[in-house]
Amino acid sequence: MTENTTTQTGAPVASDAHSLTTGPDGVTALHDRYLVEKLAAFHRERVPERNPHAKGGGAFGELVITEDVSQYTRAAVFQKGTKTEMLARFSSVAGEQGSPDTWRDVRGFALKFYTTEGNYDIVGNNTPVFFIRDGIKFPDFIHSQKRLGSSGLRDADMQWDFWSLSPESAHQVTYLMGDRGLPKSWRHMNGYGSHTYQWINADGERFWVKYHFLTRQGVEGMSNEEAEKLAGSDADHYRRDLYEAIERGENPVWDVDVQVIPYEEGKTYRFNPFDLTKTIAKADYPRIKVGHFTLNRNPQNFFADIEQAAFSPANLVPGVDISPDKMLMARVFSYPDAQRYRIGTNYNQLPVNAPHAAEVHTYGHEGSMRFHAAPAGAPTYAPNSFGGPEADAQRASEGSWETDGELVRTAATLRADDSDFGQAGTLYRDVYDDAAKERFLATITGGVGAVRSDVIRERAVVYWTNVDADLGAKLRANLGM
Ligand code: HEM
Repeated sequence: MTENTTTQTGAPVASDAHSLTTGPDGVTALHDRYLVEKLAAFHRERVPERNPHAKGGGAFGELVITEDVSQYTRAAVFQKGTKTEMLARFSSVAGEQGSPDTWRDVRGFALKFYTTEGNYDIVGNNTPVFFIRDGIKFPDFIHSQKRLGSSGLRDADMQWDFWSLSPESAHQVTYLMGDRGLPKSWRHMNGYGSHTYQWINADGERFWVKYHFLTRQGVEGMSNEEAEKLAGSDADHYRRDLYEAIERGENPVWDVDVQVIPYEEGKTYRFNPFDLTKTIAKADYPRIKVGHFTLNRNPQNFFADIEQAAFSPANLVPGVDISPDKMLMARVFSYPDAQRYRIGTNYNQLPVNAPHAAEVHTYGHEGSMRFHAAPAGAPTYAPNSFGGPEADAQRASEGSWETDGELVRTAATLRADDSDFGQAGTLYRDVYDDAAKERFLATITGGVGAVRSDVIRERAVVYWTNVDADLGAKLRANLGM
């Protein structure tokens, strides 16, 4: 038997098609409670989109740890043999919710692991570095990639102005204008934690780690021409590809590797390991295998499972922590604050964000849309005399590093091999083959060619000349400058 449509409070409704009016052609009655409820609910369907990373998609899956890395971390999620439910969301950075997936961009690679010690999120990208090294520049960076305040148009001048005035962006822009800026699909890209994070073992020893998520589907890109065509014919190309692959049972898999840097060596390594614009050479610290994850379950409801998902670098578990990377320290504030606004105060109570394998015992209570009530009589303050939860003493010693000095506003210290253009030049010269170099030159010729201001265009050419003199000369010639 077909069920009755009901109001939100469960009463059967009289009609889904006709409002209550005074006669067939008369005025509408305000007391048509169902009409009012239906319209009012509709008005409130949208929550603000993420700023940035608005357009994305994702799926659930499982992380399996196949290797013993207990000498580096005590985190339960990383112990050999452990299987953990997870959620992944992939995204573009600059475009809005409806923007075409195949606009050239860095891709977000956000992972949430529902561990027995609480949720652990790694919110990274498909590149191992970033455009800036201090969180105070992040809103400016994003503004420059989005739309002009005046006309609401995207603007090459704004993008290249910011980049060419921020030389630390060169390494990431070299990735972005290369093949990684246009992956064949989300399944065909690697992910990176990007920052240096901290692992802490059962003896309290600390290590610096870099996460690498290596696609078993193979890293593949697409041409500018194909991307442009898809932007018109299938704006949801990446979202569709992931969804349909999982529906077909072609579950994508990524290997999980880490680079481990002993704590003391972090102090003297030739690149500052807390500078997010730099990679750590594999020759110095090779990748160590940890396990793999598989995405095998599509969202049942896109809004509840993906749109309301709240990933955050602040979601950490025992045995894992952040590092003194200025970006990361800003991010642990930024995400939960953005999510309180975007989703609501009690966003962590939603099924997708609540822990699935751990319990919540918090003295936080009440607030808008609170769903779970504390058990009757449970104390709402600490310390208390009624057997309420107590903090984990072992955690008190985690989450720190040695630091000294006065409070200052300054650039992070440079190490022997640190420069803004060095690693960008190496990426262009030594990693890109001849065909990739040609594609790269064509892409930056198009990008810088779209700049209207002579001053910004000249500065952008100097920027690429600093990355590689020959590249700069070719770009200058292509632009007829
Ligand atoms: C200080 C620098 C940064 C700030 C302040 C910042 C801020 C934000 C904010 C506010 C959001 C939206 C969160 C939400 O509404 O749910 C976001 C999303 C995101 N950010 Fe960042 N971000 C920064 C740097 C980075 C870096 C370095 C990466 C990658 C290495 C990154 C990767 C992402 C990803 C993947 C998402 C989308 C997460 C999802 O799928 O829901 N961000 N960022």
